[in-house]
Amino acid sequence: MAEMLEKIIEEQRQGESYAPFAGDPNKYTKKFYIESYGCSMNFSDSEIVASILNKEGYGATGNFEEANLILINTCSIREKAEQTVRNRLHIFRKLKKNRPGTLVGVLGCMAERLKAKLLEEEKLVDMVIGPDAYRSLPTIIEEAVGGQKGVDVLLSRDETYADISPIRLDSNGVSAFVSIMRGCNNMCTFCVVPFTRGRERSRDAVSIINECKDLFNSGYKEVTLLGQNVDSYYYNPSSNEGVDQAVTFSKLLEMVALISPELRVRFSTSHPKDITDEVLHTMAKYHNICKYIHLPVQSGNTRILQLMNRTYTREWYISRVKRIREIMPDCGLSTDIITGFCTETEEDHQDTLSLMVQIQFDMAYMYAYSERPGTLAERRYTDDVPTVVKQRRLEEIIKVLKAGSTVRYLNDIGKTYEVLIENESKRSSNDWAGRNSQNKVVVFPKENYDLKKGDYVMVEISSATSGTIMGKIVRAHPEMTFRF
Ligand code: SAH
Ligand code: SF4
Ligand code: F3S
Repeated sequence: MAEMLEKIIEEQRQGESYAPFAGDPNKYTKKFYIESYGCSMNFSDSEIVASILNKEGYGATGNFEEANLILINTCSIREKAEQTVRNRLHIFRKLKKNRPGTLVGVLGCMAERLKAKLLEEEKLVDMVIGPDAYRSLPTIIEEAVGGQKGVDVLLSRDETYADISPIRLDSNGVSAFVSIMRGCNNMCTFCVVPFTRGRERSRDAVSIINECKDLFNSGYKEVTLLGQNVDSYYYNPSSNEGVDQAVTFSKLLEMVALISPELRVRFSTSHPKDITDEVLHTMAKYHNICKYIHLPVQSGNTRILQLMNRTYTREWYISRVKRIREIMPDCGLSTDIITGFCTETEEDHQDTLSLMVQIQFDMAYMYAYSERPGTLAERRYTDDVPTVVKQRRLEEIIKVLKAGSTVRYLNDIGKTYEVLIENESKRSSNDWAGRNSQNKVVVFPKENYDLKKGDYVMVEISSATSGTIMGKIVRAHPEMTFRF
């Protein structure tokens, strides 16, 4: 049961992206296929890779069997994430037997963590390229075509790919990710990211704004600003025109919000130690900055938080949530939780459960602790909570989350929300699906209105499940910002 639930949760986060054909097919003589795992940063990086490859004459294909180049953009966050990639490589191995000329490359965090070792362990792999080394793809591919395997896993202190326009893959044409920073300096003891992504660096604010403007001009209605710790975004312009003073995250949010009131702005992820009142006030000030914060807590017990090096206490976390709700009473809130971290007792686990009851998150990504080689926790502590106990605790937190979020979803009945239409509903072509500002999925009948993806509508909520709210279009609602 727990395993099944974890699988569901894992899938929510991991997802896979199969690149559809991008651009003019006649322009490209060769085809690449890319699959992405892990966090949104990886999905966003794959779009940078697609742009680099397009310039080399490679067009994207959604069918790996016809590709000259197969790339897999990997995640190392938990052991299971790496196992998924290894299973996938197994499938590509079979294909390579039939088409020996096909090149296979491993990108992303697993490439960075395992480096050249990956070439020994997975014989079919021709190239291993870390997250900061994508500019060397053309050279490495050329060498691989000549039969020489290649590795580039150099981490950089300043690479942000700011000048590369991503090619949007697998896009609904409405929402897009925009990377604003890379790396992480936080050193949470359980986490592999600082090792796979390197030092934190912020991307040039002007290039971010330009990318968001371009997206808006080509019909996109929502951007999600991405970073491992967006609240520590800080860009100090030296010679750039367009900004004359240092840009903090709050300032950046404002600059993006001002592009157009019709462009929604989201961001992920916030670290509880860094989210400032200034950011909260900026969110409150602009209608188009979505009222939703993903604020990973990890544990409700202060001793465990200290062992994790999260640098805040249970009380600090609760006080930040209180502040969020004071400034934005309608703000959606989600979190990440790890069960069974080193030395976690039943009482510590109870603290996590009670924190969840107290806060009532709308949503959470929940995981059993997975020890990662090279992390501080692996070197300093013992992974001493048995797997069955981690799993049982995971099941318990999932239950508490569900109970709380169901109440929060039911509370929406009778309310009216502005919804951005993102897709047809998966269940029925008679319904639209979109999200409200709080990031809840809203499904409603199309009726006879002449609407399309990317339109805003007001929807009055009439029913709810634990993950979706359903309702009906309210045509002339007084709060409506954009009329159709
Ligand atoms: N930068 C983000 C988190 C990125 S990783 C932040 O600090 O909030 C996403 C989530 O994966 C983390 O929040 C954590 O809950 C989980 N995670 C990270 N390392 C893990 C590990 N070793 N075992 C289990 N879960 C882990
Ligand atoms: Fe990992 Fe912590 Fe950095 Fe998040 S803030 S990426 S959990 S080290
Ligand atoms: Fe995974 Fe790397 Fe993201 S480890 S979660 S893909 S930063």
